[in-house]
Amino acid sequence: MLTVDRLSAWYGKSQVVNDVAFEVACGKTLGLLGRNGVGKTTTIRALMGLVSRTGQVTLNGSQLGSLPVYKIARSGLAYVPQGRHLFPHLTVEENLRLAWHGAKFDDGVLERGIGHFPPLSELLNRLAGNLSGGEQQMVAIGRALFNQPAAILMDEPTEGLSPLFQEKVGAVIERIKASNIAVVLVEQNLNLALNTCDDVCFMERGSIVHKCSAVEAKSPALLETFLGVGGALRT
Ligand SMILES: Nc1ncnc2c1ncn2[C@@H]1O[C@H](COP(=O)(O)OP(=O)(O)OP(=O)(O)O)[C@@H](O)[C@H]1O
Ligand SMILES: [Mg+2]
Repeated sequence: MLTVDRLSAWYGKSQVVNDVAFEVACGKTLGLLGRNGVGKTTTIRALMGLVSRTGQVTLNGSQLGSLPVYKIARSGLAYVPQGRHLFPHLTVEENLRLAWHGAKFDDGVLERGIGHFPPLSELLNRLAGNLSGGEQQMVAIGRALFNQPAAILMDEPTEGLSPLFQEKVGAVIERIKASNIAVVLVEQNLNLALNTCDDVCFMERGSIVHKCSAVEAKSPALLETFLGVGGALRT
């Protein structure tokens, strides 16, 4: 269970996230939705300890709210950043090795990391910077799953991907849920978000302004109010 309470975050003196609170149980997905610039990425970065923040973050009973980022990662919170953030001049395998927290990196570790995306095994010796966007996203998600996290934060995992790769990412999120990992998902593809998430938080100007189930969030009136896209869902 990932529990977030009174989370606030700042860039310098400007407060970008205000008193955010939510819970995600193991095997469930919570969507953070909102227009551009409302603070979704900053909320995720605050949970990882990457921006100046206050508040309580608890993962399966451990308090993470004031830990440095490397301790948060080692406590079982994994992060797939917006834009992937791989090392472009390293190979896929080197990118995966760098993410590994354990002492010994062996074939079992590697297989677990690429198990979610079997095609990755064909790419291990390629430079990450030469991969397609979809392939890079697979590496970024594989890297986040390497250390068997208890919860995973995914920021726009389908951004810039073809419909086929978007579907693959959706299928992977389902498999992650089935592994009993809690997922926080920021996602612009509304069909994918609302079909994958259990619950949804709508954000405006750094605050959560509405929480509901993903089924309720399919209401065109809600989508119009909070995202300005009332008729956007495929039926
Ligand atoms: N490094 C930074 N320094 C100062 N302000 C920033 C920084 N990064 C983001 N901001 C500001 O913080 C606010 C929230 O940005 P954030 O990236 O969290 O939004 P977002 O909801 O993820 O947007 P998007 O949907 O475009 O990804 C915005 O006003 C943005 O301009
Ligand atoms: Mg963002």
